[in-house]
Amino acid sequence: MKKNILVTGAFGQIGSELIAALEKRSGKSLVVAFDKRLDPNFKGISVIGDITDKELLRNIVIEHNIGTVYHLVSLLSAVGENNPELAWKVNMDGLRNILDLAREYDLKVFWPSSIAAFGKTTPRENTPQRTVLEPGTMYGVTKVAGELLCQYYFNKFGVDVRSVRYPGVISWKTLPGGGTTDYAVDIFWKAIETGEYVCFLKKDTALPMMYIDDAIRATLEIMDADPKKIAIRTSYNLAAVSFTPATLADAIRKAGVPLKIKYLPDFRQSIADSWPKSIDDKSARKDWKWKHQFDLDKMVKEMLRGVREMRAK
Ligand SMILES: NC(=O)c1ccc[n+]([C@@H]2O[C@H](COP(=O)([O-])OP(=O)(O)OC[C@H]3O[C@@H](n4cnc5c(N)ncnc54)[C@H](O)[C@@H]3O)[C@@H](O)[C@H]2O)c1
Repeated sequence: MKKNILVTGAFGQIGSELIAALEKRSGKSLVVAFDKRLDPNFKGISVIGDITDKELLRNIVIEHNIGTVYHLVSLLSAVGENNPELAWKVNMDGLRNILDLAREYDLKVFWPSSIAAFGKTTPRENTPQRTVLEPGTMYGVTKVAGELLCQYYFNKFGVDVRSVRYPGVISWKTLPGGGTTDYAVDIFWKAIETGEYVCFLKKDTALPMMYIDDAIRATLEIMDADPKKIAIRTSYNLAAVSFTPATLADAIRKAGVPLKIKYLPDFRQSIADSWPKSIDDKSARKDWKWKHQFDLDKMVKEMLRGVREMRAK
């Protein structure tokens, strides 16, 4: 019986915490980390390589008797806009490699989409599950194409691939990888280090966000769900909280940390302006009983605690 797990993009913002959660559940010997760069602090099994190298991935699947893949490698929104050709190659060739191997070796797959799949023509308040998908970034284009590819592999080849559209994910153990919601992590570090922050989005830019613990739990819960309950094989809307930079700054001050904030919007403002302000995730709540646990104040408390702990190390 194949029960080992492969996590690609293992040392990124989400992968590093997902690996820890999987190792806690399944044991270190059952989880293989794959990334293009090494995390010198990682104590488990790791393979370094490029996600576009299908034969390397095939060898890992065979050698480590892989049964499940959490495929997290991606170039994110801001990084992708600086190199759209590479974003297409890494995001699409990488996903295609994983789905082809899933078909060949009967692997169960998790692959995240994003709120970046939406665009300017999408209703921005309470964005529905099924709606217009006309993203303005290459990252978003790869997410829409990826969602359709996942659905195709499920319908055509029976690949059990499951997906959620993560909102902006907020965490403190690793730094975010170049997305448009990164300000909501940076602000905590600057608030504690200097009490001042220059925000690259305007003060009233509302975006959907989620604390990392909720994001990891959603990932594990959709993968644990009975396949019959997974009615959507493109990607599920997923929501927790929505806030603006000004609201977040207020919540940090309310938690006892003085903070001066200036707003100097850059190219990421137009990306944020094309994304939803809030998300309707009732399909996930109904189909596999998704429920978030972290509201804004609880998240702020955890972030301040976590950032202080990291700084003390
Ligand atoms: N973090 C968020 O807020 C967020 C929001 C929505 C969706 N997502 C999705 O979640 C997934 C993980 O995101 P993340 O924030 O952890 O990203 P990240 O940028 O922090 O991590 C990605 C990892 O992939 C690795 N990588 C990049 N190119 C590679 C290649 N060619 N071969 C092998 N490894 C490569 C990087 O070294 C990095 O460790 C992505 O699919 C992303 O689109 C993230």
